[in-house]
Amino acid sequence: MPLKIIEHNSKEYQQMLGLRMEILRKPLGLSFDEADIEKEKDDVCIGAFEDGKILGCCLLTKLDDRSMRLRQMAVTNNSQRNGVGRVMMDFAENIARDLGYKTMVMHARKTAIGFYQKQGYTISGEEFEEVTLPHFLMFKNL
Ligand SMILES: CC(C)(COP(=O)(O)OP(=O)(O)OC[C@H]1O[C@@H](n2cnc3c(N)ncnc32)[C@H](O)[C@@H]1OP(=O)(O)O)[C@@H](O)C(=O)NCCC(=O)NCCS
Repeated sequence: MPLKIIEHNSKEYQQMLGLRMEILRKPLGLSFDEADIEKEKDDVCIGAFEDGKILGCCLLTKLDDRSMRLRQMAVTNNSQRNGVGRVMMDFAENIARDLGYKTMVMHARKTAIGFYQKQGYTISGEEFEEVTLPHFLMFKNL
């Protein structure tokens, strides 16, 4: 399963937006606008592909000189629980480490906490709400 860094406004980028829409936004009645897209032009976009189809994606956003934030982690419904998420996390962490970042953080949906804990992440602080869902801040030292 090839993992790639996705160029902005490429064909793969459009595939990634489609996946994020289907898995993360549509179920909540949300979509993307131009401002969302513009904001992520400096992010590292990561995709997992098979036979030209996108199976999973995530984004890395610089928080400060030490910390990267992982965002928009999504795997297609048919490919979940097959190891795609884990492989993407390893890839994303290696990229952040190679760029010199020391910590990865994320706003994890409560339903995905068990997944991140299996990748070595720890909860920090209290539950909060984002996009109408309960979340926790999680982090890992790289
Ligand atoms: C959460 C998500 C990214 C995980 O990706 P995935 O490819 O299904 O996960 P993997 O198959 O790599 O799972 C790795 C391990 O975590 C476990 N796991 C996966 N999802 C889990 C979950 N939601 N809760 C608890 N454990 C989970 C797997 O069972 C596996 O355990 P193992 O190592 O004992 O076999 C994916 O299920 C998804 O896209 N969910 C919907 C969107 C979402 O919630 N995104 C995260 C927003 S913060």
